[in-house]
Amino acid sequence: MTHSVLALLRILADGHSHSVQELCNRLMLDTVMLEQSIEGLRELNLSVQVSADGALALREPLDLLDHQAIISSLAHNARAWLSRLEVHPVIDSTNNYLLTQAASGWPSGAICLAEVQQMGRGRQGRNWLSPFGANLALSLLWRFTTPSAAVGLSLATGIAVARMLRQAGITGVGLKWPNDVWWRERKLGGVLLESGGTVERFYIVAGIGLNVALAREASALIDQPWVDLQEIWPGAPVDRNALAASVIGSLIEAFSRFQDEGFAGFAEEWVRFDQVRGQGVRLHLPNGVVAGIARGVDVTGALLLETPDGRTTPYLGGEISLRLAS
Ligand code: ATP
Ligand code: BTN
Repeated sequence: MTHSVLALLRILADGHSHSVQELCNRLMLDTVMLEQSIEGLRELNLSVQVSADGALALREPLDLLDHQAIISSLAHNARAWLSRLEVHPVIDSTNNYLLTQAASGWPSGAICLAEVQQMGRGRQGRNWLSPFGANLALSLLWRFTTPSAAVGLSLATGIAVARMLRQAGITGVGLKWPNDVWWRERKLGGVLLESGGTVERFYIVAGIGLNVALAREASALIDQPWVDLQEIWPGAPVDRNALAASVIGSLIEAFSRFQDEGFAGFAEEWVRFDQVRGQGVRLHLPNGVVAGIARGVDVTGALLLETPDGRTTPYLGGEISLRLAS
């Protein structure tokens, strides 16, 4: 995104109409250059509307991410662990970005956020829809002494997000094993952990996607029930910068605690958020489907499945998907 496209966006983000004259003056552009910048916004699927008198406005105001606003809302403890924080207007995937930076030596505690991801990823190569300004797309880089030290971290990450949302007053938030943030069985967000490095220099990039105000048109692109915070947030509209700071604070607190306690320190809390415990479920495995009753998780975060023969078996692995039986 060029400097002038970004500068134009910052003006139009208020949702008000601005005349061409005003925009050209403020941005120090001629009308041809302004037209190119408008095109730049349209390429990001932002709808710029032109009124009868030629004034320009976005269809809806945008609550843009702001580096300084996030930093100043961040709890002190979190600031101490944070090594850097970057806010990108456009990125392929915040996880990809931090995986690349991790390989070149960035330390623990780096955070990347983006307004839009052009190749946002879910698990198993699935897409994660992140239109401009409509969700929180955030990744955190963390280094561990060994790969085994990170067992169960995916679940602990979900707990950190769900706990923060509950503290913000959203009731009905829970987790669907292993990585979905649910609100009344509708997908509000997801967690994608990816790793790299060597056994001695091992790192995790934890990606969080949280829907804030996903336009209704997105429905056609998401093939399961979903929800956004705009629909369920108590009171005032969601402030994305304050939300980002709360998510980062909760994540950093969870990761630093996980470093000392492992998943054992989170197992009890999982029970409070577990949305499928006691329910009939089907597990889609790489080599078939197995049905049973979900009986919570073990100390590694593996799902415990009770099958009709009365046996309970732990299931763990990135290629397993759980679906409610009903
Ligand atoms: P699993 O149980 O395996 O995690 P899943 O269907 O939730 O199953 P994921 O890989 O976790 O799969 O997430 C990707 C899926 O999430 C997509 O296939 C789509 O159905 C859905 N999805 C994509 N973008 C969004 C979004 N912004 N909000 C809610 N759901 C989304
Ligand atoms: C899922 O439910 O499968 C996980 C979705 C994770 C999406 C987030 S958005 C920030 C980070 N960057 C990505 O490309 N994916 C994760």
